[in-house]
Amino acid sequence: MSVSIHVQNVVKQYGQMTIIPGLSVDIENGEFFTLLGPSGCGKTTLLRMIAGFNSIEAGTISFGEQIINAIPAHKRNIGMVFQSYAIFPHLTVRKNVEYGLQFRDVPKAERAQRVDEILKTVRIEEYQDRLPERLSGGQQQRVALARAIVVHPSVLLMDEPLSNLDAKLRVEMRGAIRDIQKKVGITTVYVTHDQEEALCISDRIAVMREGVIQQMNVPQAIYARPANIFVATFIGHSNLFQATLSGQELRFSPGYAIDMGGQVRAGSDNTPVIAGVRPEEFLLAPPGRGLAARVVKTTFLGRYVNYELEFSDVSLLPDQASIEFSQDIGVARTVLRPGDTLSLEVNPEKINIFAEDSQSLMCEVAS
Ligand SMILES: Nc1ncnc2c1ncn2[C@@H]1O[C@H](COP(=O)(O)OP(=O)(O)O)[C@@H](O)[C@H]1O
Ligand SMILES: [Mg+2]
Repeated sequence: MSVSIHVQNVVKQYGQMTIIPGLSVDIENGEFFTLLGPSGCGKTTLLRMIAGFNSIEAGTISFGEQIINAIPAHKRNIGMVFQSYAIFPHLTVRKNVEYGLQFRDVPKAERAQRVDEILKTVRIEEYQDRLPERLSGGQQQRVALARAIVVHPSVLLMDEPLSNLDAKLRVEMRGAIRDIQKKVGITTVYVTHDQEEALCISDRIAVMREGVIQQMNVPQAIYARPANIFVATFIGHSNLFQATLSGQELRFSPGYAIDMGGQVRAGSDNTPVIAGVRPEEFLLAPPGRGLAARVVKTTFLGRYVNYELEFSDVSLLPDQASIEFSQDIGVARTVLRPGDTLSLEVNPEKINIFAEDSQSLMCEVAS
């Protein structure tokens, strides 16, 4: 039976170091929930606390109604999949999957039936008599996944399970994992540092930084309305402009301002703000309107062309890797070259405004 997970004010310390200073999250029964953040932000630490491999210094973790802080890992009924497949090289695929059931009180006939079913679900039944060395990385990871779910765990925990696979296989496997999770219907906590993977695989994402959840929402909302500048730049690319806000008027430069049409929360007068514009949210404008820019570099990406830009009459937040405009090839009339000039407008419905001091979002969240 799959269960909900409730993490309340949990604290993790290693010696004097506080890794997680007090984190809360409620994960629904059957949900595919992802912890996303840069390397070292505490994702594995939190996952291991849920699994029971790490101590909990304060707070509680519950499965359904039951607090599990004091329950040892092997009694939490958890399925785990790691980056390294951790399958036995000397056992066949079938024996590897069966292994999980060996320590459970499952009658022999039912055991065989369950293994058959799971092999089919993860689509490795035709390889069941092979040894792991004769499987691809993706197939080996399917074996690991099958072994984790054959025991009907209460929750499934996955820590960067696709990191060892090459790019094409990663894309294929993330689709497979999502399909299998939905089919089995098991509450899943998935850890990754790969934002694209998180966006496509998750029901909901928690974006973490230094042990603190920055934002928790469905993928679309996190991309469209990042809660702060960290999220806006960690997930996808955001071009950041230093602008000023007066009422609903967002001014980029002496010659260019837009009306936010009631989206901005705080009343203000000439308040310095940071405006975040995603590369695909610029609109080409007739010459002389909007913001003047020059193409510095062109990168052809198949469906898109990406232009690195230089602006002359706006101020940009310092230390940005690049300022980018991307154009959908399907609708682009002409492809620009380095040195070309262009005029760009921004779409007030898509733009995000962040307070300069707190760096947090100031727009109403219109979904
Ligand atoms: N056993 C440990 N002892 C001391 N520090 C640790 C230990 N495990 C992890 N850490 C520290 O905790 C922080 C978070 O690590 P981790 O949870 O592995 O990050 P992530 O999985 O997000 O990359 C890091 O700074 C790491 O160095
Ligand atoms: Mg980790």
